[in-house]
Amino acid sequence: MEKMLIKGGKRLKGCVNISGSKNSALPILIATLLTDDNCVIKNVPVLQDIMIVVKLLKHLGKKIKFHNHEITVSQSGGLITEAPYELVKKMRASILVMGPLLARYKKAKVSMPGGCEIGLRPIDIHLDGFKKMGAVCDIFHGDIKIKTSGLIGSRIVLDFPSVGATENLLMAAALSQGETIIENAAIEPEIADLSDFLVEMGACISGIGTRKLIIKGVKKLSGCSYSVMPDRIESGTFMIAAAITGGDIKICGTIPEHNDFLTEKLKVSGCELKNCSGVINIKRTGKIFPVNIETSVYPGFPTDLQNMWMALMTISAGESLIVETIFENRFKTIAEFSRMGADIKVKGNCAIVKGVNSLKGAEVCASDLRSSAALVLAGLCSAGETSVSGLGYLDRGYENFEHKLKKLGASIKRIEG
Ligand code: UD1
Repeated sequence: MEKMLIKGGKRLKGCVNISGSKNSALPILIATLLTDDNCVIKNVPVLQDIMIVVKLLKHLGKKIKFHNHEITVSQSGGLITEAPYELVKKMRASILVMGPLLARYKKAKVSMPGGCEIGLRPIDIHLDGFKKMGAVCDIFHGDIKIKTSGLIGSRIVLDFPSVGATENLLMAAALSQGETIIENAAIEPEIADLSDFLVEMGACISGIGTRKLIIKGVKKLSGCSYSVMPDRIESGTFMIAAAITGGDIKICGTIPEHNDFLTEKLKVSGCELKNCSGVINIKRTGKIFPVNIETSVYPGFPTDLQNMWMALMTISAGESLIVETIFENRFKTIAEFSRMGADIKVKGNCAIVKGVNSLKGAEVCASDLRSSAALVLAGLCSAGETSVSGLGYLDRGYENFEHKLKKLGASIKRIEG
């Protein structure tokens, strides 16, 4: 089993280049199912989750060439419409094939994803939307079988602005008959990135970036070339890495506005931040002030950065409150922070973090993707050595994480052990 060994106490300095967004690349690659034409997707991060989606697309009948962060998706012949459990259980985003397959082939059979490390994660909002568009679905032997005699545009009001449901319905609506209106749509930047890609393919979408998406269905979508936006969660992770180590770093190739909420919170916590044309400069010289956060949908504080924020607050000069409103199991990392000497109490979805002078290196184990990055950040500011296991999670979502940290001066290495 691989482990990351980190010797804490180094201030991070220098420049880091941000990779393409995992959470954009996944739906964009899946959206290539909407056409037989070739699509060229650029700035794709090289990650385990991307490899799983490549496997899934190949399973469905696509041909894939992956070279230097560029994926060419092509096709000769029809696709199959079934996504098996082996692939869906490895990556929940696999359920996004439902929308495109339903729109193009009028049916899909996708294994029911079940819960995962961070929560139950039902898919009722996706299915309710498809039903509104004229699909019928049946859950049998752990599979969702969904079919339609032809999707019809409809007005869909989402119960909650789910990112995945918005993406799934958007892709289905692009090839449906008539107009679909998605109200209370998610407005995470990844939705706009997927929408822009669909528009490049010939889709007719208005209201991009707002809670009301209007999609006029077209008969056919075509191939195109598209570059995935930068990963705002990776940028946020490095921003907090600078803060937690008292560092001074430049985060390059990012879209600073995507992290506006985090930027404000970091300023209140004592960091100096400057944003200009794709670069975030972040520096901390003084102490870390305690700052409360509550996770929320975009543009609020992202749940994907909650664990990293908690790592920062463990060494703040006071007490802070962290409220998790999106995923119920995202406090699992607290047990590991406690092994490092953190003082955190939990009541329901609230965590009260009392800052300590310093964390102490320990052996800790990640319980999900974002927990793995948060434990590495905690290790960077701890006294002594920290060993983080569960790196399978880290490799699902961070490209070259330890190399990027090492380049900034961290003492970090991956070992077999
Ligand atoms: C996506 C991101 C994930 C991020 C999350 C919230 C990808 C691949 N993953 O996940 O990194 O943390 O957005 O920003 O892009 N829900 C329902 N019913 C549904 C769908 C969702 O109850 O049908 C609930 C979920 O259980 C959760 C909340 O809605 O509590 C948010 O989920 P959603 O926005 O759908 O997140 P994902 O698309 O799964």
